[in-house]
Amino acid sequence: MSDTNPITQDAVDSAVDAALAAFAAAATVAELKSARNAHVGEASAIAQLNARMREVPKDEKAATGKLMGQARGRLEGAYKAREGELAAAEAQARLAAETVDVTEAPVRRAAGSRHPLAQLQEEAADIFIGMGWEIAEGPEVEHEWFNFDALGFDPDHPARAMQDTFFVEPADRHLLLRTHTSPVQIRSLLGRELPVYVVAPGRVYRTDELDATHTPVFHQIEGIAIDKGLTMAHLRGTLEHFARQMFGEEAKIRLRPNFFPFTEPSAEMDVWQPNAKGGARWVEWGGCGMVDPRVLAAAGIDPEEYQGFAFGMGIERTLQFRHDINDMRDMVEGDTRFNQQFGGLV
Ligand code: PHE
Repeated sequence: MSDTNPITQDAVDSAVDAALAAFAAAATVAELKSARNAHVGEASAIAQLNARMREVPKDEKAATGKLMGQARGRLEGAYKAREGELAAAEAQARLAAETVDVTEAPVRRAAGSRHPLAQLQEEAADIFIGMGWEIAEGPEVEHEWFNFDALGFDPDHPARAMQDTFFVEPADRHLLLRTHTSPVQIRSLLGRELPVYVVAPGRVYRTDELDATHTPVFHQIEGIAIDKGLTMAHLRGTLEHFARQMFGEEAKIRLRPNFFPFTEPSAEMDVWQPNAKGGARWVEWGGCGMVDPRVLAAAGIDPEEYQGFAFGMGIERTLQFRHDINDMRDMVEGDTRFNQQFGGLV
């Protein structure tokens, strides 16, 4: 090539070498594209050389054109090859990142299960619904009057003491966490038309320490029936039916004289458990009695005309007898393995 030809072999080689080095150095397809812009694009060294074809002497045009064509061909080939490599590597990396091991054990959230105490409360309530009774509810933060006064507890009755009852501050509002479901008796008598046949399952509170046989929060189911001519025989028959539904056909109940300030006469009720572990036995199930005429009078009911009975038993105790649960703490710890043993039903 003559001295007047501006497109020298050296100039082309160095432009091509620089481009090839930049292609090789590109680590991604995007980097490769910008390397192509820089080394093959309009402002690149090779484009500038190309622009000078006009200055090439006529008799050297063919040879110079071939030189430029070869250079472009090499660049094109190198670009395609590198693009293929980089695209394959990127696809490989994406596949590796998105790999799903279909044999891996899935992380599943264990299905929850209803608490046996909740199920048992519903089952107990259903037995009474089957006899035509209604369900009543009362507040867990109760007024002292409903929890104690209206039920005939003297102002100095020991059950009212701080060591037995959770009072809610400020003390002059006379609010407490109900210590039994019996205040629902009073609410039912005040709020309903006679006759009244209601059960009230619910949560109650006493200041007991949590141990194997006590929990400060537990559940009772209360019942009250007020009608004309109800006697202790109706109480007994109702409780016997309830016991059989809860514990099976051989279940029997026994009433032992006792005292409650809101029933007269009052009784402690035991249930016979023929299949108890360690042999058949009587177990204490709850309290009951004929509603005291003074309670009826306080609710504006004429005790000469209407009489009735009431009862209350512990749901936790019921669950314990039925399922041989020795430690009450199992019922409050919230370990779903405990609940799941009862499945969907108790
Ligand atoms: N409320 C009493 C208790 O918690 C039980 C009871 C209810 C007694 C109804 C008589 C009538 O011990």
